[in-house]
Amino acid sequence: MKSCISVIKADIGSIGGHVAPSSRLVEATRRHVQERGSSLVSDFHISYTGDDIAILMVHTRGLGDPEIHKMAWDAFVAGTAIAKEQGLYGAGQDLLKESFSGNVKGMGPAVAEMQFDERPGEPFLFFAADKTDPGAFNLPLYLAFADVMNTPGLILSPSLSKGFRFVIMDVRNTAADSVIELNAPEEMYDIAALLRDPERYVVESIWSRSTGNQAAVVATSRLHNIAGKYTGKDDPVMLVRVQMDFPATGEVLAPYAIGHFVAGGMRGSHHMPLMPVHQNTGISYFDGPPIVSCAGFSEHGGKLTEPVDCFAHPFWDEVRGKVSEKAIEMRRQGFVGAAMLSMDELEYTGIMTKLASLEKRFRVRTPNESPIPA
Ligand code: 13P
Ligand code: 13P
Ligand code: MG
Ligand code: MG
Repeated sequence: MKSCISVIKADIGSIGGHVAPSSRLVEATRRHVQERGSSLVSDFHISYTGDDIAILMVHTRGLGDPEIHKMAWDAFVAGTAIAKEQGLYGAGQDLLKESFSGNVKGMGPAVAEMQFDERPGEPFLFFAADKTDPGAFNLPLYLAFADVMNTPGLILSPSLSKGFRFVIMDVRNTAADSVIELNAPEEMYDIAALLRDPERYVVESIWSRSTGNQAAVVATSRLHNIAGKYTGKDDPVMLVRVQMDFPATGEVLAPYAIGHFVAGGMRGSHHMPLMPVHQNTGISYFDGPPIVSCAGFSEHGGKLTEPVDCFAHPFWDEVRGKVSEKAIEMRRQGFVGAAMLSMDELEYTGIMTKLASLEKRFRVRTPNESPIPA
């Protein structure tokens, strides 16, 4: 029977703004999964990153299982009740539909699921990011799975040398899932041409070309596509299987030392560098900087080990210092140009009303009119 790992995450309210969920909220969510999930999942782990709480589950019920999804949805509903009771900010923020209907996809929570034949050793990484969106993983995934400068395994390991297949989604198509499959290394430039625009083209999954096995899956939901307006950032989750026919853990982690600029931070409307952080870290400076956490697990027979906190190592302290400097440098230019997202992205925020009212005040100058105001 195939193993399945599902991670479903949502922002259902947080303390002191969009900072972090309360321990009572986390506990209520955990209790629900423990009590209602025992017949569905063989193991689970609850964590948070910024104000997003994630339920990671191991089971054999397959992808998109309605009962697993409903159990997770109900866990978030139970957590939301506590958020309301405590007056947390944005209680139930990501529960965008009134009632559950079959699958949490398209209802607000982010979901990433992978089904596979368990290897003798099954190491995998669970990434969660806050104050950013799924495109934040484009560059790290490209580097880890297609670039020899990052991943020497692509030339050192025969099982990696056939390369990887990228499935990339055009998240602007709100009517249906619009995807393209591209092979690295032959089509690397095509992959790069799409991934350079992380607000539109997002890596959905990656597959080994030597074994056909799935290496990675990213939650691709865009909340404004569901809500039609800005309701919070699409803080993504991702699962990456590592070692053997996949890149090594360190090859998958290495790109996060860049602290690349991503969409996110304050009001979901800015470019800020992505900071790798410990599990269960909140946010702070300028509602950010955008953060990413990574928990490493081994899975066997449906059971998880305890997580290893991949960005807790002292190496990442230096990276965090550099990312803070980049964040402050970008913030020095405030609202102007590259600091803020493109108009395409801002069109879901309140700025459109302001621009519409200013548009009416524009007038066309007559040919001989003086440029000096009357
Ligand atoms: P307010 O909800 O206080 O307007 O702040 C906006 C925000 O933080 C985006 O969710
Ligand atoms: P979240 O999407 O994490 O709730 O953040 C909202 C926001 O606008 C923070 O400034
Ligand atoms: Mg929030
Ligand atoms: Mg969040």
